[in-house]
This record gives sequence, C-alpha cells and structure tokens, in this order.
Amino acid sequence: MTVTDEHSHANGSATNGSVKGHIKEAFVDGSVAISPSNPELVPGLLEQVALSGNAFASEDPKARTDLLDAARQLVYALETPREAMIRFCWSQATAFACLETGVDLGLFTALSKDDKPKKASELAETVGADNKLISRILKHLCAVGVILETGPNEYRRTGMSTSLMSQRYSDAYSCMTACITKGVLALPAQLKKTGYKNLDNGTDCAFQLGYKTPLHFFEFLKEHPDAAKEFNNHMSAYRQGRPSWMDSGFYDVPALINGDIGEGEALLVDMGGSVGHDLSEFHRKWSSAPGRLILQDLPEVLEQAKTMSLHPSIEIMAHDFFNEQPVKGARAYYMHSILHDWTDADCKKILENIVPAMKRGHSKILINENVIPETNAYWETTSLDIIMMADFASTERTADDWHALVESAGLKITKIWTAQRGVESLIECELA
Ligand SMILES: C[S@@+](CC[C@H](N)C(=O)[O-])C[C@H]1O[C@@H](n2cnc3c(N)ncnc32)[C@H](O)[C@@H]1O
Repeated sequence: MTVTDEHSHANGSATNGSVKGHIKEAFVDGSVAISPSNPELVPGLLEQVALSGNAFASEDPKARTDLLDAARQLVYALETPREAMIRFCWSQATAFACLETGVDLGLFTALSKDDKPKKASELAETVGADNKLISRILKHLCAVGVILETGPNEYRRTGMSTSLMSQRYSDAYSCMTACITKGVLALPAQLKKTGYKNLDNGTDCAFQLGYKTPLHFFEFLKEHPDAAKEFNNHMSAYRQGRPSWMDSGFYDVPALINGDIGEGEALLVDMGGSVGHDLSEFHRKWSSAPGRLILQDLPEVLEQAKTMSLHPSIEIMAHDFFNEQPVKGARAYYMHSILHDWTDADCKKILENIVPAMKRGHSKILINENVIPETNAYWETTSLDIIMMADFASTERTADDWHALVESAGLKITKIWTAQRGVESLIECELA
C-alpha cells in the first residue's frame, strides 16, 4: 500500500500535507481500496470468533455479545475500503428506507404473523401495494438480513421482522426520520459553518438546520405529537434486553430501599421519566419496597403515560425540571438519559433545582447514563454521542466530565456502578 502527498510526489519536497486546515489530495495506490482493510488482524479475530463461538454453543450468557463483537471486528478487518464505502453510503440508508416503508405498510405484520413462507405477490395484495414495488423492497430486506428467502420471490419471517410487529420497536424508524436523522445529516454542514467548534447551543445546532426550525428538540416534539409518541416508544424500547441497574448484581437496591423511608415519603422520583417504563420495571422487580414512586415529565408526555396502564401505585406529576423540585426529602431523585440531552450549563441548572429538595444523609441523585471509557468505547454509545452532538448540542460524558458537572452543582459522586460495556452506568450522588 502506498500513500504519498501529491505535492511531494510531484516535486520531491516533503510536507505534512496540510494547507490552511485543508488536507491536500494525496496520491493513494489504487489497490488499497480493493484490498482487505486490516488483513493482519484476521488470524487473531478468527481465533476469537472460534473461542466465543464455543462458549456460545455451551450457553455461556456473556458469549453472544463477545461473539458478535469479534465477528463484527472480523468483518471490518476483511472488508475492503470500497466495500465499507458501499455499506456506509448505500446499504444503511436504503435498508432504513425499506424498513420504514415496510413498517408503514404493515408488511412485517403480514409476513411475520406465522412461520409460513409467503410470496411477494401475496404480501403485496395483503398490504395493498404494487407487486413489483414490494418484490424489490423484499429482495433488499432479504439481502441485508431482515427477512429470509425461501424461493424465487418467496420469503419467511425472522426474529427481526417479527419484532417489527410491535409498535414499541417499529416506531424507531419513523421516529428517526421525524425528529433525529435530518439533524445528523446536517451535522457536517453545521460543523463547517461554526468553524469546527464543539457545539454548545441546543437551539442553534444541526437539529435546527436539518429540520428547518428555530425550536429546541423538545419544543419541536410539542409541535409534532406523532413524532413525540414515536420518540417515547423508542425510549421505552432501545434499552431492552440489557442489564438494568435495578437487577441484582448491579446497583445496591436493598441499601436504597432499606434507608428509613417513612409513611408517605417518596422512594423514587423519576424526573423526565417519559411514559413510566422505568418506574413500572422498578415496581415489578421490587414490589414490596416502601415509599412513593413518582413519575415526572412534561404534561403532554404524561397524557401518553396515562394511556399505558401503569400500576396504580405510580403517581403521575407534571414537573418541568428547570423549576425547583417540589417533592422534598425523597430517598432518590432518578434521571435516566436526561442530562445527556442538555449542555453543561443546562445540566447544572437541572441539578441545582434538586439540591434544595434533598435531605442531607438521606437523599441521593441517581443518574443512569453512559460513562464513556478512556479506550474501547462501544459503538452504540459513540453513535448516541454523535446524535446528542447533532440534535441537542450536548454529549455523552466521561467519568471526569461527570465529576466536574456534579461538583459544579454543589454535589459529589459517591460511586459509579457499571455492569457491562456499552450499557448506561448508575452514578450515585449526594450533597457535597
Ligand atoms: C431522552 S428522554 C428519556 C426518557 C426516560 N427517562 C428514559 O430513559 O426512557 C428525555 C425525557 O425528558 C423529558 N423532558 C424534556 N424536557 C423536560 C423538562 N423541561 N422537564 C421535564 N421533563 C422534560 C422528555 O419529555 C423525555 O421524556
């Protein structure tokens, strides 16, 4: 493989290839784009795949994600840059378009209602769409692994296509189009416009450029109730199937609930708790815990929560977390994926609004968020970080970032609990 600065190639003088912040066109040996990207890693990755594969076969519970990681790294090492370019540029956007169209048409429900293979023509008739169109969409969905082919123009369901029968999962696609992806697509232009500075204004970031709006993300959702419902469903679904801080072996829930909680006192206040999925989970897992469970969010979100058949012990209370916390002396004020939506200045205000309500030696703030590690950050977390940059001018934070933020509001971190790479930690805070 040869990579040479074109300038030095032409006249023999060596430069660092950078002119006023722009990288000059380099001469690249054409074979690099059509050869595996990191062939030297392949033998080691094959060994890892074999090892994790054996562990998976013997039903080691951690082996599936290890195997998936090794297999993914193996694909990246084997893939040529040309193939990677086509994957990023063609396949991801087109698979997304077919998924969103399929969801909108009810195609996955028609295909996945049972195990029987179905002809494209039969599915087209069921969903009321053009046969040729559906055949093309199904072929692509099969090529990218969403469904399985059983013969010419004939397909059957997979776990993936069956999950799309549930609105909680299928809403992710229209949600991304309605209120997230256009911000991400506008990010390069926004960063160029603002001179490649880290964005720090949630009302003037790539989101506003992409969606042609002056509104902050959450103000935009108020004006687009369908997108808001899809967003809330996506929030309730994206974290399923991963360790939760309420499970034993993660955070010390017994110490929390055994902490002198009197009659009528609050155990857990879920601030920005959306439609109540976290409190429902807590109630299911710790049904005999003493104290009140209080769900707080914006009034329009709580209207949706009221349709979710929450357990009657969960109280619903409208509260804007930019105002002082009205529930005094709770055992814990809990925030899940809240602070990552806001800049440091806004987060400081949110935290400072809890401080007057806290009882020293009793109240805690529990922040359920990603803690980005120094090395080996997980792709789901870094994806979310770039979404936060584009749509909120905010960030996923490192441990140092969390300490600095929490301390700026007169609080201290007592401990950070982390169960698994790529899964939100539980950051426990008290009054400083
Ligand atoms: C990223 S979602 C997280 C939802 C939930 N905690 C979870 O983890 O699934 C952010 C939540 O903050 C709520 N929110 C936004 N601004 C708020 C405000 N000023 N006061 C209270 N809640 C707010 C939104 O309505 C939304 O439910």
